[in-house]
Amino acid sequence: MARKLEIRGGKPLHGELEISGAKNAAIAIIPAAMLVDGVCRIENIPQISDVSLMLTNMDEMGAAIRTINRTTMEFDCRDLPPVAEGSKSMSKIRASYYFIGVLLGRFGRAKVPMPGGCDFGVRPIDQHLKGMRAMGAKVEVADGYIYAQAKSGKLHGANIYLDVVSVGATMNIMLAAVLAEGKTVIENAAREPHIVDLANFLNAMGGDVRGAGTSVVRINGVEKLHGGFYSIIPDQIEAGTYLAAAAATGGDVVLKNVIPKHLYSITAKLEEMGAEVEEMGDAIRITSDGKLCCANVKTMPYPGFPTDMQPQILTCLTIADGTSVVTEDIWDNRYNYVSELLKMGAKIQVDGKIAVVEGQPMLTGAEVRACDLRAGAAMVIAGLIAQGVTTIDEIHHIERGYEDMVEKLRGIGADIRLVEEKDPVRKALELA
Ligand code: EPU
Repeated sequence: MARKLEIRGGKPLHGELEISGAKNAAIAIIPAAMLVDGVCRIENIPQISDVSLMLTNMDEMGAAIRTINRTTMEFDCRDLPPVAEGSKSMSKIRASYYFIGVLLGRFGRAKVPMPGGCDFGVRPIDQHLKGMRAMGAKVEVADGYIYAQAKSGKLHGANIYLDVVSVGATMNIMLAAVLAEGKTVIENAAREPHIVDLANFLNAMGGDVRGAGTSVVRINGVEKLHGGFYSIIPDQIEAGTYLAAAAATGGDVVLKNVIPKHLYSITAKLEEMGAEVEEMGDAIRITSDGKLCCANVKTMPYPGFPTDMQPQILTCLTIADGTSVVTEDIWDNRYNYVSELLKMGAKIQVDGKIAVVEGQPMLTGAEVRACDLRAGAAMVIAGLIAQGVTTIDEIHHIERGYEDMVEKLRGIGADIRLVEEKDPVRKALELA
């Protein structure tokens, strides 16, 4: 059964919607529960397929997971067998690399499949492995797996300077270090909100992590983590995506359950493009007449403009007045989706890291595909802007990171629906 999204564009968005828990925090905090010697209850877990895959894998490893309600779960990992290892299915997602830190920290050994995730060209994990080695692990990569073992049975603290600002390496080293012997210092650490969230989770369970959110993170290893409660922060990129959609279609939308400070780089850019943004405590309101002006955007580590919003903002710029320059400074190859926007009448020229976007009066509906998670979100925005009907294929990418996107958008007036089509061969056989 082929599943597609069908959008009739050109409608302004109006109303309120609730932002879910942050994907990139959840997929680090959930495996971190395996470090806890007790029961931990985690709230505001987003219902997305990356989280489901992670939960399935933890269940296979022996974690006892209890669903309390739609967004809350309890984890009891006290009785994990010491042979726990990541199954091959984990290679579908990027966050499988967090099991290296978690299993090394918990058992002094780890076997984890090489991580997958969105295709942005080469995605090395050398900084993760450098960190684990500095903490006393022997690490090898063979048969598609990463094998790591603490040489003395347990990791020890170390000073680690990251050669590139890496979100994943910063969080992975934090996971490995929280139960290590002694003090670990991560220099040139990433500063994203989800790094602070992971530190807050570990500290709520009895860890000693300081400086998260700055470029130097210090972790004093503790003997044990104890159980407790934790609520994951709202998703900065999900919120940014709906803000961009409202700015481009025009309308008046309030997003509830957000931390406005996490959105500054995005809201500042949307204001520069002509939208109005109002902070309302833990909500944010955007109003726009849909007439945007051009702007230049460069992606950077937090607090700079996030690479995970690059496809969505570029899509808004396709109908802005004037020519914009977008520079992708985090990933080598994050413009795969541009060919889909060209089918809708966008004018974009890509040269390496740079995309030059010549704003057009409108986009027109077309059959496009979601090349990856955020590219998929960009296709939805394009469909909402465009005149006519847009269908989006390969929507499993979108479901990796957006909870109930169709329902949320319908709730603010979008004409979007999920279409399930029998594949052509099966349909022909049934008709025969
Ligand atoms: N890098 C290295 N070596 C490493 C690690 C990273 O050279 O060992 C480089 C990368 O090639 C890249 C840069 O450092 O050029 C930053 O990579 P980072 O490690 O920060 O990315 P990541 O941890 O693999 C996470 C998010 C991505 C998001 C990036 C940047 C997860 C699971 N993924 O990836 O999110 O784009 O940080 O903010 O947290 C998404 O949600 O759509 C997504 C792709």
